[in-house]
Amino acid sequence: MLTFIVLLGPPGVGKGTQAKIVAERTGLPHVSSGDLFRENIKNKTKLGQLAQSYMNNGELVPDDVTIAMVRERLAQQDCAKGALLDGFPRTPTQAEALGNLLASFSGRVNYVPYITASEEILVSRLSGRWTCREQGHVFHEKFNPPKQAGICDHDGSELYQRDDDKSDTVKRRIQVYLEQTAPLITYYRERGILFEIDGTQSIEQVTAALLAVVEK
Ligand code: AP5
Ligand code: MG
Repeated sequence: MLTFIVLLGPPGVGKGTQAKIVAERTGLPHVSSGDLFRENIKNKTKLGQLAQSYMNNGELVPDDVTIAMVRERLAQQDCAKGALLDGFPRTPTQAEALGNLLASFSGRVNYVPYITASEEILVSRLSGRWTCREQGHVFHEKFNPPKQAGICDHDGSELYQRDDDKSDTVKRRIQVYLEQTAPLITYYRERGILFEIDGTQSIEQVTAALLAVVEK
C-alpha cells in the first residue's frame, strides 16, 4: 500500500527530529525539502545558490523550483511505497501540486500530523540546535545533547549551527510560517486527514503520539 505522510508544524517544533525516528520505524524514506536544499548548497549547485539567498533571509524558496526538486526526489525508487515528507508542502500551491502528483500514480496524502508549540518554545529549541553535516540528524545542547559535544551520535560527522538559526532569521521564519504555511492547517483539516499533536511533550511522547496516528 502507498503511504504518504506530511509532517506539518512551525520551524523548530521537532519535524526533523521525529521524521528520522518515524522513518526508521515505518521504513518510509524521510524526504525533507530543507535537507535537499542544504545538500544542494553543500554541493554548490545552481539550485543551492538560488535557495541559499532565500533561506538566509528566512524566506521561502519559490514554489516552482521547490516543487520540481521534490517531484524529482519522489520519483526515486525508494519512494515507490510512499514517503514521510518534512517541510513540504509549505504553501497552498505546493499542496495542490503534491496532490496532483500523487494522484497521477493513484496515491494521496494519507496523514498530516500537525505538531504544535508556543513561539517561546520554538525560539529556545532553535537557539540551542546542533545539526549533523552528513545526514541532518538534530541535537539540542540542553534538551537532546549528543554523547560527545560537536559529534553526531549516528554517523560521527561534525555538528554545526544552521545559518538560519540566528534570532532575527528565526523570527522571520516563524512569521513566514504563519502567513504562508498555516493556511495548510485548514486545507488538510477540511480533507479529514489532519491530526494535531502537542509538540511541547518530550521527544519520546511526541514519537508515541505520531506512531499512534500513522500505524492506525
Ligand atoms: P527547514 O529545514 O524545513 O526548516 P524549518 O521548517 O524551519 O524547520 P526546522 O528544521 O528549523 O525545525 P524542525 O521542525 O525540523 O525541528 P527540529 O526537529 O530540528 O527549512 C529551512 C528553509 O528552507 C526554509 O526557511 C525555506 O527557506 C527553505 N524551504 C524548505 N522547505 C521549503 C518549501 N517547501 N518551500 C519553500 N522553501 C522551503 O528540532 C528543533 C530543535 O528542538 C532541535 O535542537 C531538537 O533537538 C529540539 N527538539 C525537538 N523536539 C523536541 C522536544 N520534544 N523537546 C525538546 N526539544 C526538542
Ligand atoms: Mg527540520
